[in-house]
Amino acid sequence: MMLQRVFVFLLMNIIQTTAAKEPWRPACSRYDYEERLLERVIRNELSMETLLKEIHETNVKIESSLKILERAIYEVETQLKSEINKAKAYMSDAVAEMTNNSSMTAIQIKKEIEKLKGFY
Ligand SMILES: *[C@@H]1O[C@H](CO)[C@@H](O)[C@H](O)[C@H]1NC(C)=O
Ligand SMILES: *[C@@H]1O[C@H](CO)[C@@H](O)[C@H](O)[C@H]1NC(C)=O
Repeated sequence: MMLQRVFVFLLMNIIQTTAAKEPWRPACSRYDYEERLLERVIRNELSMETLLKEIHETNVKIESSLKILERAIYEVETQLKSEINKAKAYMSDAVAEMTNNSSMTAIQIKKEIEKLKGFY
């Protein structure tokens, strides 16, 4: 939609520019007028072809940039997921170790209490 508007705008500009550039000559004959008209039509057609080619080239460049961007986003996402999984596993191990350590500590304390009870 936006591209279409830009295209129409550019087309109007080309037509106006070529019309403005058209040198004024007294019309010698009907054929002279038709010849100039034909020249103008051909010039407009050539400008339009160039414009279409440029639009197509720009589209190709944009598409290729988008593909590169999509690939980069995919790689970042994959790496991020892997890092998150590593962090989760690390935290899970740490929590298990802390749980184990505290139960080991509790067992140790119980043993110490039993020893102390033996003294009295
Ligand atoms: C668990 O205990 C071991 C040895 O007692 C210690 O090296 C380790 O750092 C402890 N881990 C945590 C998470 O407290
Ligand atoms: C806790 O750690 C000790 C050695 O630090 C180990 O012998 C024991 O199996 C561990 N227990 C659990 C539940 O992981």
